[in-house]
Amino acid sequence: MPTIRFLNTDDGAAEVDVPVGTTLLQAAQKAHAPEGSACGGVCACSTCHVYVRRGANLLSESEDEEQDILDKAFAVESSSRLGCQARVERDGLVEVEITRESYETWYNEHPQERHARDARLKARRGE
Ligand code: FES
Repeated sequence: MPTIRFLNTDDGAAEVDVPVGTTLLQAAQKAHAPEGSACGGVCACSTCHVYVRRGANLLSESEDEEQDILDKAFAVESSSRLGCQARVERDGLVEVEITRESYETWYNEHPQERHARDARLKARRGE
């Protein structure tokens, strides 16, 4: 079964095993990783933008529709994918870094989680 590792959650890396055919966004939701999805995963917003740091060859090819939406995203790199469009097609490890844009969107969509995160960060700093 493929493994998706999200490298930059608030609590460090989060890892989840998923069936072949799962999108990176679905994997993030299963792993409780903060990846935004303002359009609900229909390739219309770019808030699910992530960087695939390892295992890009295990994912579905990027289609023209995905590339058109990525053109509107911030800080696009050659490793950029839309989490709602990149589907894992083969067994192995995929490592994903959630972009700042996506991370902030998720917290805007989940304000209660933002408060909890801020409290955890303050506690870590001893405030
Ligand atoms: S969730 Fe909107 S483009 Fe992926």
